[in-house]
Amino acid sequence: MVSPSGDVLGEGSHEAVGKPHAEVVALEQAGPAAAGSTLYVTLEPCTHHGNTPPCVDAIIAAGVARVVIGAEDPDVRVSGAGMVSLRQSGVEVIDDLMPVEEAETVDPAYFRHRRTGMPTITLKYAMTLDGSIAAVDGSARWVSSEAAREDSHRLRAEMDAIVVGAGTVRSDDPRLTVRLEGYEGPQPVPVVVAGEGDLPEEAAIWERSPLVIASSSRPIPTGSLVVVEGVGGLPDPGAAARAIADRGHLDVLLEGGSDLAGAWWREGVVNRGVIYLAAKLGGGRGISPLGGVFSRIEEATEVEITSVRSLDGDYRVEFERII
Ligand SMILES: NC(=O)c1ccc[n+]([C@@H]2O[C@H](COP(=O)([O-])OP(=O)(O)OC[C@H]3O[C@@H](n4cnc5c(N)ncnc54)[C@H](OP(=O)(O)O)[C@@H]3O)[C@@H](O)[C@H]2O)c1
Repeated sequence: MVSPSGDVLGEGSHEAVGKPHAEVVALEQAGPAAAGSTLYVTLEPCTHHGNTPPCVDAIIAAGVARVVIGAEDPDVRVSGAGMVSLRQSGVEVIDDLMPVEEAETVDPAYFRHRRTGMPTITLKYAMTLDGSIAAVDGSARWVSSEAAREDSHRLRAEMDAIVVGAGTVRSDDPRLTVRLEGYEGPQPVPVVVAGEGDLPEEAAIWERSPLVIASSSRPIPTGSLVVVEGVGGLPDPGAAARAIADRGHLDVLLEGGSDLAGAWWREGVVNRGVIYLAAKLGGGRGISPLGGVFSRIEEATEVEITSVRSLDGDYRVEFERII
């Protein structure tokens, strides 16, 4: 939010579901100085009573003179109505300053969710150079270097939720926390996708009250259970992903293991990937990153590699699924 003479009066971002929207944060900082100012927003201000009151009302009440908008909100409850309300109240609206695609790069998961109801799912695994995420006995600590593991905690910190299959809970007993020195930000919500097998009662994940997704009701020691439609006792990947997004978790990290990641990949619910290539070889057939069978070359899916960087001898490869 900028004054007519160009001074920054307030700045804001939307921290989390249920927290005040960016506009309200900036308006509070500016106080009475907001009257006559220009507000720059990446997303069209909302007009509906969701988890917070409409931002449009607050902008009009504060006497903001001009609003510059990066992208129209695809949310059906807004989609243009915010701009109409502002203009009707005499606020100047500028909405063509940058291409919409550019504005959307600020928060792609939000736009994808509002258009499709789905979260943005990032597949992550660490693999030996000869293609194993674990040895045949299930041991995987540690495939990658300390620098790569630290980077994977930074990746976790960017996410709303982390998903693993029941097999990984049984073999690795993960806590799915961000463990970085000095980190005090929010912890992603742990999600376990269960089939019909056991989830050990003593598993560390129960200390974190996870979201458990299953295709039939089952008792769980802590957390919440969501039952979605299933096939052969396993939750349908699309239904499971949608259930995660329905709870407001839009940026989701899929950490494996092999069977769950393979099923979700083949179903097309994975959008991007971060792969750590460890500077070591297993020397034989271990556990591959994606369970299932790759039977014909035509089945391979092309991806666009968007970044490659070295992490103390290991490599981090990032890609986007093309379709
Ligand atoms: N290096 C790495 O980055 C990394 C990361 C994670 C895991 N790992 C390794 O991966 C191995 C575990 O992999 P995993 O394949 O055994 O276990 P998993 O993929 O974690 O879990 C598989 C289980 O998830 C449940 N499930 C729910 N929906 C499913 C679906 N649509 N398709 C398949 N399964 C579904 C089933 O549970 P039920 O059995 O209960 O029916 C299934 O057996 C361990 O060795 C672990 O160390 C490595």
